[in-house]
Amino acid sequence: MKDKVILSASHIKKSFRTRDKKSFLAVNDVSLDIYRGETLALVGESGCGKSTLARVIMRMIDADEGSIAFEGNEISKLSERALRPYRREMQMVFQDPASSLDPRMKIRDIIAEPLLAWKVYDSKSRLDERISELLDLVDLREDCLDRYPHQFSGGQRQRIGIARAIALDPKLLICDESVSALDVCVQAQILNLLKSLKQQMGLTCLFISHDLAVVNFIADRICVMKNGQICETEEASLLYKNPKHEYTKYLLASDLHFLPSKNN
Ligand SMILES: Nc1ncnc2c1ncn2[C@@H]1O[C@H](COP(=O)(O)OP(=O)(O)OP(=O)(O)O)[C@@H](O)[C@H]1O
Ligand SMILES: [Mg+2]
Repeated sequence: MKDKVILSASHIKKSFRTRDKKSFLAVNDVSLDIYRGETLALVGESGCGKSTLARVIMRMIDADEGSIAFEGNEISKLSERALRPYRREMQMVFQDPASSLDPRMKIRDIIAEPLLAWKVYDSKSRLDERISELLDLVDLREDCLDRYPHQFSGGQRQRIGIARAIALDPKLLICDESVSALDVCVQAQILNLLKSLKQQMGLTCLFISHDLAVVNFIADRICVMKNGQICETEEASLLYKNPKHEYTKYLLASDLHFLPSKNN
């Protein structure tokens, strides 16, 4: 069982100072395990602490309390230097590719950047080969490479963001509201892409969304989060059929018009 867990967060707490100098507990004693090869969804209403938890897991910010183990290694206290090998293994796909992709860079350079930063290839031809392979994986054509982000649609930009995020072959991909800014039809295309990448690359994914319909399509298991805490974690099909926590029932009821897609 233990080697099935790729990332284990336990008893994470993270507070922020509010404007009136009080302390606000955004993540309040959260524990979760992410299994190798699964897509674990984290759902909950805006402000419940999803992104904060993701940033803690990725060590973009430090938790006040708790521990994070990546493949059994405790990483929550590691120095930036000691953390470096783990940085490569966890990558993030953001909500808004328009602001996370540098508008002055060509697509080729955007995708190449992590590969160059990590000195993955020592020849230009191997680098170009990998860039072509990545384009292929996200279903973009070679003629994209000399263009700039603003020349693409939202869905295409998200494909570019995904190509960049998977360039180093990470073990864990965190998608934070990665399809929320897209319209429904494009959302479905990107979700299908993430599904197929999961199959092709054996990718493990923490998929964050406030939208249960989106999560229904992609998740193997679901964590429901409310006010900085996880109130229910369940296999996706079971959670939709038999929600146990009152808050899950409430979320499902307020989302009913979206439902059945995957599980019936
Ligand atoms: N850097 C920060 N400084 C102060 N407060 C913060 C900071 N980051 C987050 N918060 C607060 O912590 C709470 C949780 O925020 P978080 O962004 O994690 O929520 P979320 O679940 O991701 O919401 P959304 O669905 O809107 O993205 C919110 O009340 C937010 O205002
Ligand atoms: Mg968020």
